[in-house]
Amino acid sequence: MNASTVPRQHQRVLSGMRPTGRLHLGHYHGVLQNWIRLQHEYECFFFVADWHALTTHYEESGVISENVWDMVIDWLATGIDPGDATLFIQSRVYEHAELSLLLSMVTPLGWLERVPSYKDQQEKLRERDLATFGFLGYPVLQSADILIYRAGLVPVGEDQVAHVELTREIARRFNHIYGRESGFEEKAETAIAKMGKKYAKLYRKLRRRFQEQGDPEALETARALLDDQRNITLGDRERLFGYLEGGGRAILPEPQALLTEAAKMPGLDGQKMSKSYGNVIELREAPDGVREKLRTMPTDPARVRRKDPGDPGKCPVWQFHLVYSDAETRGWVDNGCRTAAIGCIDCKQRVIDAVLAEQAPIRERALEYESQPDLVRSIISDGCDHARDIARETMEAVRQVMGLAYR
Ligand code: TRP
Ligand code: SF4
Repeated sequence: MNASTVPRQHQRVLSGMRPTGRLHLGHYHGVLQNWIRLQHEYECFFFVADWHALTTHYEESGVISENVWDMVIDWLATGIDPGDATLFIQSRVYEHAELSLLLSMVTPLGWLERVPSYKDQQEKLRERDLATFGFLGYPVLQSADILIYRAGLVPVGEDQVAHVELTREIARRFNHIYGRESGFEEKAETAIAKMGKKYAKLYRKLRRRFQEQGDPEALETARALLDDQRNITLGDRERLFGYLEGGGRAILPEPQALLTEAAKMPGLDGQKMSKSYGNVIELREAPDGVREKLRTMPTDPARVRRKDPGDPGKCPVWQFHLVYSDAETRGWVDNGCRTAAIGCIDCKQRVIDAVLAEQAPIRERALEYESQPDLVRSIISDGCDHARDIARETMEAVRQVMGLAYR
């Protein structure tokens, strides 16, 4: 086996979403389709970040529960498969709170104050009082969410990359403070030998390539190799993770952000699709609502009358064609718009048909889940149980190295 054939699928993927209630097409094209793809390639954990919702909406905590279930149903209806991915709710795995507390001890205040979203969000959500401890500390909670599963990859949008960076810094600091042990190098060397000749040789080669040439791919491959080893202990695995980068034991391995391409899915007004802009089509929006919204959405302002030619580049409907239409239809739109051969109603009808076709199976599956609330709850309970098992394992190690394992 050469380095590039070490399977990547053994890396753990973790991502969370705040419970904002029913999701819209922007979530589907921006986030969920990505999750659905990832769940087949990796061991995936997707969770409802309900505590995160409280960091900004603590005054409206009553709506959270409904939002949680609506969102979970949307996940399931779009094809997130509980057979492939672990789905759970943050607040039901208390260990997140414990790790968050412990990480907060080693997180310098300045790091939190410098997180870009801290000031941005306070400006944006001026009507809320966000001068709270919970809001400032939210990136620590997010770090705990990620590190407690020792996730390697965190699919997030642009706005969350800084949080994953902070997570790496917190992990590094934690490992630096608590990962030291006497005789580290000898222990690491002994652990390498336990992998067997072939893998030991590969590990050494990758480690050298990372340390001498800074090759990030070598690091990633070596981590995947370690994830694959079945005959080394958790402690040895941590040592070997840490040894790769030179430090002590990596009790909390550093994750990487997996940047989700900015959604190409615009809202009805051409801005980003977002509930706060009031420009969304919900995943489960009733067909009449979909028709109405798309028929009344703005077009190129130059097309005042039917015979006026237009420019798709200036029309939000065109953005929908870029998501939904094939080359032939796009050609028909482009040509028809510029020569006024087609009217906006004809043009929009193609989008309406495509959106309705996309939604039909989703709506149907959502109805099934809605009619079986017990099923949805049991899927989540199973997910919480599985997540908790792993979270507990990590916490054992964390307590151990922090000197909290006296009982
Ligand atoms: N902070 C993320 C958001 O607002 C949600 C989130 C919480 C998350 N914990 C996470 C995302 C861990 C990825 C990993 O969208
Ligand atoms: Fe927009 Fe289509 Fe009308 Fe052109 S024909 S202005 S692309 S809706």
